[in-house]
Formats: sequence, structure tokens, C-alpha cells
Amino acid sequence: MLTARTLVELRQHLQRFKRPAFVPTMGNLHEGHLHLLQVAKPLGDVLVASIFVNRLQFLPHEDFASYPRTFEDDCAKLHEQGCDVLFAPDETQLYPHPQTFKVQPDPALANILEGEFRPGFFTGVCTVVLKLFHCVFNGGAGVAVFGQKDYQQQLILKHMVQQLAMPIDIVTAATTRAPDGLALSSRNGYLSPPERA
Ligand code: PAF
Repeated sequence: MLTARTLVELRQHLQRFKRPAFVPTMGNLHEGHLHLLQVAKPLGDVLVASIFVNRLQFLPHEDFASYPRTFEDDCAKLHEQGCDVLFAPDETQLYPHPQTFKVQPDPALANILEGEFRPGFFTGVCTVVLKLFHCVFNGGAGVAVFGQKDYQQQLILKHMVQQLAMPIDIVTAATTRAPDGLALSSRNGYLSPPERA
């Protein structure tokens, strides 16, 4: 597995492929992410994952600073899943200047449900995903896989690629659950046993 830390490295490596299959993540990988990778693997000619904890999708009171970062462990898991390329930029790569241009999703979709309680969250998600798509697909075709657990997110991203005429297929993969039925999530570690029950 090649780990690209910069956009230049990533693009150089991906230029010979015609249809990347891409799984964007914020790391702290669990079985749910691994399922996304398994779904993505046969859909493209190179399997790409990204790890980037995206500041833009955290509200000031949220857990950006303490969000679990488990890079070494994540790399081992990606390698085991046959991931070909990991894009792991730091903020100087993705946000070299304050990100003042943002992707504003349709408020009818983005300001309800989770978006009602996390104002600006889906703007942060769309902005980073559009940027990651530019990095990985470089204007070309490909496929990106997202989890059904984040139902509103995948709906908004499908709308984004359709409205912006991007030749990218968004595939939704089924939710992976813990034996007690809880959908796997990187933040489940925050839950106490009574909160989980
Ligand atoms: O679902 C996530 O983990 C994030 O929202 C994503 C799509 C990687 C964008 O930061």
C-alpha cells in the first residue's frame, strides 16, 4: 500500500488508473469502514482510502481535538483489506489557506434531522468531500462508497455529484452492527454502558 501525504504524490500515483474506487474516512477504522472497503474493492481499478479529520465539519463545542486518531492501527487494517493507496494529507495540504469557498448543500436536505442540530455540518462535509474527489479523481470518473448509517450524508453527496455534473458514482453500503445491534461508529467509544443500552 502506498501512503500519499501530498496531493502531488497522490496524483502522480493515480494518473495511470481510469476508475478509482474511493472510501473517504476520518480514521479510527472499525468493521464498518472495512465493509465499505470490501464493497469498493471490485468497483474500480485501484482502491483508495483517505484519512483526514476534517475541522470544517466540527462545531466549536465538538470533539475535533480529541477525535480518536489511530493512524498506525488504521494503516494495518487498510493493508489487510487490500487497499492500494492511502491518502493521508495534513491540513497544510487540504487547507493551505483558510477555506473561505465552501460547498453549500440544499438547505431543504441539509438543515433538517442531524443538520438541524449541527448547523454547518453538511457544508463542512460537502466541502471536504468535493476537495477529496478533486484530489482522487482529478476531474475523471470513479466510484465512492459511503455508509448507509450516515443516511443523510450519502443522500446529500449524491445530490452534490448530480448537481455539479461530476462523473462519480456514489454507492451506499449496508450498515455494520455490533452484536447488541448498535451501528458501528468511531464515536461509540464515547458511550457508557447505560447510554448504549
Ligand atoms: O463519514 C465520514 O467519516 C466523514 O463525514 C467524511 C465523509 C469522511 C468526510 O469527512
